[in-house]
Amino acid sequence: MLDIESLEVSYGAVRAVRGVSLGVRKGELVTLLGANGAGKSSTLMAIAGAVRATAGRVRLDGADVTGATPENMVRRGVAAVPETRDVFPDLTVAQNLQLGAFTRRRDQAGVIHDRETHFTHFPILAERQHLPAGNLSGGEQQMLVIARALMSRPSVLLLDEPSLGLAPIVVDQIFDMIGSLKDSGLTILLVEQNAAKALAVSDRAYVMRLGRIEAEGPASEIAAATELKSLYLGAEP
Ligand SMILES: Nc1ncnc2c1ncn2[C@@H]1O[C@H](COP(=O)(O)OP(=O)(O)O)[C@@H](O)[C@H]1O
Ligand SMILES: [Mg+2]
Repeated sequence: MLDIESLEVSYGAVRAVRGVSLGVRKGELVTLLGANGAGKSSTLMAIAGAVRATAGRVRLDGADVTGATPENMVRRGVAAVPETRDVFPDLTVAQNLQLGAFTRRRDQAGVIHDRETHFTHFPILAERQHLPAGNLSGGEQQMLVIARALMSRPSVLLLDEPSLGLAPIVVDQIFDMIGSLKDSGLTILLVEQNAAKALAVSDRAYVMRLGRIEAEGPASEIAAATELKSLYLGAEP
């Protein structure tokens, strides 16, 4: 479904992504692991159109979408949740969700229906729907940005470090949520520091180091490959 070929991203002299090729099949949950600075976010954001790829190809269902704007990618069914976890703090939870549906202005009934569905799945968001999003805890804000991304009815979800900085119990809730999204048939590319939990819910994984893919395989094999652990557990090999 998503096919990345020889992707490169540079920030001036910094070559953050150096020829990354990866694929995500329909309905798959694929995790991208790697130490801090490996180039995971740059890869994800280049796919989403939020940073410019200096070389390489991004294909979606066979169509070349390299260089598409973030808005265009959302219209094509690719929604991204960046690691910055940015809510509009002064807008209410309900208004934040509404903004995620910007591609569906002519489908107000569907938008309201989806919002109610997300409120059922995330009761805490329903409870807080009239509060400014800035009042939510970190975990609640993470749920809100994921639910907001879902409001565009994506076929592919790109998630960057959804569990970062959250309390263990909240981390478990986030991973439960990712598991149910996969069960619902959504195709997901996940970037995570929490390798053990990410691998436990994933079908396959890629390990990045210094802008390149160092290893790939079924999640269970990547989890069992002890020699890879130093690559993604934060320690420099
Ligand atoms: N906006 C930016 N400007 C300059 N360098 C950046 C920028 N964003 C990331 N980098 C650099 O690119 C490299 C990869 O970063 P990033 O993609 O954020 O890695 P990861 O998500 O794996 O931690 C790092 O060396 C980082 O310092
Ligand atoms: Mg990152």
